[in-house]
Amino acid sequence: MEIKLKKTNYVSGVVEVPADKSVTHRAVMLSSLAEGNSIVRNYLPSDDCNRTIEAFCQMGAEIKIDNGSLYIKGAGLKLAKPQNGKYNIYAGNSGTTTRLLSGILAGQKFEAVITGDDSLSKRPMRRVILPLSQMGADIKSNDGLLPLIIKGRNPLKALNYESDKSTAQVKSAVLFAGLYADGVTTYKEPAKSRDHSERMLKAFGADITVSGNFVTVYPAERLTAQDITVPGDISSAAFFIAAALIVPDSNLSIRNVGVNPTRDGLIEVLKQMGADITLTNMREISQEPVCDIVVKYSKLKAVDIDASLVPRMVDEIPVFVLIATQASGVTRISGAKELRVKESDRIEAVTSQFKKLGAQVESLEDGFIINGNSGFNLTGTVVDSFEDHRIAMTLAVASLIAEGETVIRDSHCVDISFPGFYKVLKNICR
Ligand code: S3P
Repeated sequence: MEIKLKKTNYVSGVVEVPADKSVTHRAVMLSSLAEGNSIVRNYLPSDDCNRTIEAFCQMGAEIKIDNGSLYIKGAGLKLAKPQNGKYNIYAGNSGTTTRLLSGILAGQKFEAVITGDDSLSKRPMRRVILPLSQMGADIKSNDGLLPLIIKGRNPLKALNYESDKSTAQVKSAVLFAGLYADGVTTYKEPAKSRDHSERMLKAFGADITVSGNFVTVYPAERLTAQDITVPGDISSAAFFIAAALIVPDSNLSIRNVGVNPTRDGLIEVLKQMGADITLTNMREISQEPVCDIVVKYSKLKAVDIDASLVPRMVDEIPVFVLIATQASGVTRISGAKELRVKESDRIEAVTSQFKKLGAQVESLEDGFIINGNSGFNLTGTVVDSFEDHRIAMTLAVASLIAEGETVIRDSHCVDISFPGFYKVLKNICR
């Protein structure tokens, strides 16, 4: 499916972004492992999250959907055994489902096979296989790729793990496995990645302590059901923040956005660049900081981003590159090699498609050099999403300032994280 989009005069109005994808995955997982009845309010009904919901329905959790909320009767930490020897779990496009679930399956006394779509089947899984095998799980793979065949063990061996990457998916897998271990498990990472798992594990009653980039988790007898409200996703809000910043005369309010300090790198960088962004009505919802954001069109100046900031804005970098094309000066992004193993090779995807639109973007092995120019004109043409939701949405925002028509191929992939995206975008275009 392709979509045709046109330049707009300005954007304005009020946007409510969908619920956070990372928080929804974790809420479904921990509610399914808890004893009792949990409620997950304002969950994200996207393709990725549906894969997690289906996996846990298969493994004994009872999940009902009513009026935008999930009602989950947990199966307990020991999930139901499969009827026919093993579970076949289809994770679709979802790296989060695959990697976090691997940590949970590592502690079960049964076998499960995880498969996925073409994109997920190319993504590296050794990063979870390694620590979980050290804990005693028996994991076979296709040379580090899907399918994963996981034979769990209970109890697992406690592990002290120091990761060479900042990745919340690996961290969460080890912490979840740590619930099933025979002692204290610790995890250290170079720069702190998103900490939704740590916050939520604590809420569900797990014994977990966090000190900077260092996390300690104790084995758990049980988790206790919770009533959770999922905040809006800052990674989805990022597309609207970008639209308001780069389309002249724009003024946009974005409501109910999660601004966890491990996720707010984009806002910090944009402020450094001179962006007119105001955070208002700061509050806390289910252990997560949330606010409303007002963004106005701004004249921006270039900035440098390195590895210390990347984990706090990793999913926002494609749309950030678009913003940087509109800032005066040269923006350099380094330390972002992980972008090469996301839903697509995002360094390659962004560089090739922005060049087609006429932007001056060069790729580095681990980032980008963007030669910005205030008011720089892009020109609409046919571009590819590479079936990557964040690339499709980035190109859709680019179309708002591109002369003529922009045609995005495989535009439907936005459903991975933001069903209804094009409609919400159209509603703010004037
Ligand atoms: C996620 C962690 C990040 C992020 C992904 C969601 C999570 O991946 O890119 O979209 O929910 O834990 P990495 O852990 O690979 O950095």
